[in-house]
Amino acid sequence: MQRSNPVVEARVMRAMKSDIAAARPGWHGHCSASLIRDQEVSVVPTVSMTVNGTPVTAEIDVRTLLVDFLREDLRLTGTHVGCDTSQCGACTVHVDGEAVKACAVLAVQADGSEILTIEGIGTVESLHPMQLAFREHHGLQCGFCTPGMIMAGIDMARRHGSELVAATVRTELEGNICRCTGYHNIVTAIIDGARSMGDAPLAPHAAG
Ligand code: FES
Ligand code: FES
Repeated sequence: MQRSNPVVEARVMRAMKSDIAAARPGWHGHCSASLIRDQEVSVVPTVSMTVNGTPVTAEIDVRTLLVDFLREDLRLTGTHVGCDTSQCGACTVHVDGEAVKACAVLAVQADGSEILTIEGIGTVESLHPMQLAFREHHGLQCGFCTPGMIMAGIDMARRHGSELVAATVRTELEGNICRCTGYHNIVTAIIDGARSMGDAPLAPHAAG
């Protein structure tokens, strides 16, 4: 049984109410979520959210990061953990239609949200246009950063439209790190993926 700590619990409750936009990919400071994860608290809330079109409800430790909830509770391991400190963007998912670093968000902060992960954007038989563009342009080497890059790329296409230019993509990728440093092909893939997306919707369950 975990010890109750009123001070830490108050910090947790504040974090639960904090703006999820602070976890946008371009931001890479230290997050209160990962600091809270290392504390002892006794709050065990029930969270409900829709993940890749499927409603899920679970009782979780309040300190659970969204990325750990996705990977360990739901076994959606396509979302990667590269740094765990909001630096690399490997954990990028969409929360209510916006790209967010899932290691910078507590699962309780995503309560009631629509979550989209790399598993939800396409299938092996029918890849998402951004996935096809990464394959076409060799936008990956080891592939570790790729799920986060693709989710960030789709987010860029949504916000900037189908006529993305390299300078915009490079600026937007500030919060996504590729340890293989193959940025040139990643940028080309995102530009082409955005063009292919055009105004076409994502998979039916991914819209929104
Ligand atoms: S694992 Fe989340 S930013 Fe690196
Ligand atoms: S392809 Fe290896 S980390 Fe990006």
